[in-house]
Amino acid sequence: MVKIAPSILSADFANLKNEIIALEKAGADMIHIDVMDGHYVPNLTFGPAIVRVIRDLTNLPLDVHLMVEKPETMVNWFVQAGADILTIHAEACKHLDATLNSIKERGCKAGVSLNPATSENVLTYVLDKVDQVLVMSVNPGFGGQVFIPEQLQKIARIKSLIGNRNIQIEVDGGINPLTAAECVAAGADILVAGTSVFASKDYRKNIDALR
Ligand code: DX5
Ligand code: ZN
Repeated sequence: MVKIAPSILSADFANLKNEIIALEKAGADMIHIDVMDGHYVPNLTFGPAIVRVIRDLTNLPLDVHLMVEKPETMVNWFVQAGADILTIHAEACKHLDATLNSIKERGCKAGVSLNPATSENVLTYVLDKVDQVLVMSVNPGFGGQVFIPEQLQKIARIKSLIGNRNIQIEVDGGINPLTAAECVAAGADILVAGTSVFASKDYRKNIDALR
């Protein structure tokens, strides 16, 4: 069954503790934390201190999505803060292979994210050190954007590139019950959702609707 990773970008920040507890009770499979640095994307969000706080609130895996320039300088911060999966953007990394090594050496799972215009070809020579590929189905930076349908083709291509390797395909941006079904049909294993999970107070119903 497809896994659902609610993005806390759409949570009530004044009530973050209860939001995390509610997501866990509602059946979330992991917590997706969007780290933005105001440079790589035009928005600024959470640092490692917030990841640490969330780590102490839940046993769910923390899926940390780094939308930052020079992610290699921050790997240690987020691993120490308690990330289970650290995803970096291929476009933000001068040395993607080396940065993936640095994540894996610290005992963390490593993900590579691709912006909508980035080809899956960048994955070819790093696939054996990747646990997860995150397909951005919107341009990174903000919640509430519209799903870009061309990304379905990319999901299918990545699926065939992966072959029998144990790599999860995660899709992020514009996920609602309709686009969720299309992503799963194309080969997605994990769906990130902010707007549609937090759309109403019944998080369980919203998560179930995506499955
Ligand atoms: C966007 C983030 C997403 C975002 C998704 O840059 O990476 O995780 O929270 O939000 P929705 O589900 O609203 O598109
Ligand atoms: Zn994200």
